Amino acid sequence: MNDTDIPDSLVRTMRLARSVVALTGAGVSAESGVPTFREAQTGLWQFYDPMDLATPEAFERDPQLVWKWYEWRRRLVGTAEPHGGYRALVDLEDRLPSFSLVTQNVDGLHQRAGSRNVIELHGNITRSICSVERTTVDPGITELAPPPCPQCGASLRPDVVWFGEALPATAILDATEAARSCDVLFSIGTSSLVQPAASLPEEATRAGAIVVEINPEETPLSSRADYVLRGPAGKVLPALVNAIYR
Ligand code: OAD
Repeated sequence: MNDTDIPDSLVRTMRLARSVVALTGAGVSAESGVPTFREAQTGLWQFYDPMDLATPEAFERDPQLVWKWYEWRRRLVGTAEPHGGYRALVDLEDRLPSFSLVTQNVDGLHQRAGSRNVIELHGNITRSICSVERTTVDPGITELAPPPCPQCGASLRPDVVWFGEALPATAILDATEAARSCDVLFSIGTSSLVQPAASLPEEATRAGAIVVEINPEETPLSSRADYVLRGPAGKVLPALVNAIYR
């Protein structure tokens, strides 16, 4: 995809937009080498059962297994580099009066690319918290898996939202507010299956915003979006920014 493939009416809408939200999912990280969750051949949930690795019960049953799985993902994320699509999102933030990046991703790649106003709905894999006190703790270098909290001795855990857990209250409030008050919402690289994130485009539509999906595959959002840009985020986002600001 190049900039001439972006519909003129979307380019005009973006030139007039004051407030834009980008809602991102695992597909954005795919071209940086971080696997998605639900894709048929490569998604993490094809190889692992989330109930064994991403629930509070799994952590209670086998904290070592869960901690080590997250350590593996942390290493994977540590070697990944943000691609041009991430930088296109930073460009949009630099140029628009109001821009919120709402992400379901836990890899911190948006921040590493330079995005500033990032709302993390599912936490961040690079941080650890005390499983009892919920305070952020630096686990340091240790052989213990999971390491103990230096304050209370309880196990540390990754600062991510597991299945069955509530999202951070401020994050979902801020994300909903941003979706309700934006002119354009982009839903990028998400299967639009996991709530409450999957409802944010609908909130935006109801409040009168234009919704644009960027995804190589069809999702439940596709038929309801005002525009669908079929392609990978690493190609479509730079093309979009070029088209708007050429
Ligand atoms: P999924 O794995 O469910 O969906 C990834 C989406 O990215 C799919 O729709 C793909 O078609 C699309 N995709 C793949 N490559 C792409 C590319 N290069 N550019 C754009 N899109 C691409 O991931 P999420 O929707 O993020 O939650 O999943 C939501 C949540 O479910 C995750 O945050 C995680 C997971 O369980 C928790 O861990 C709490």
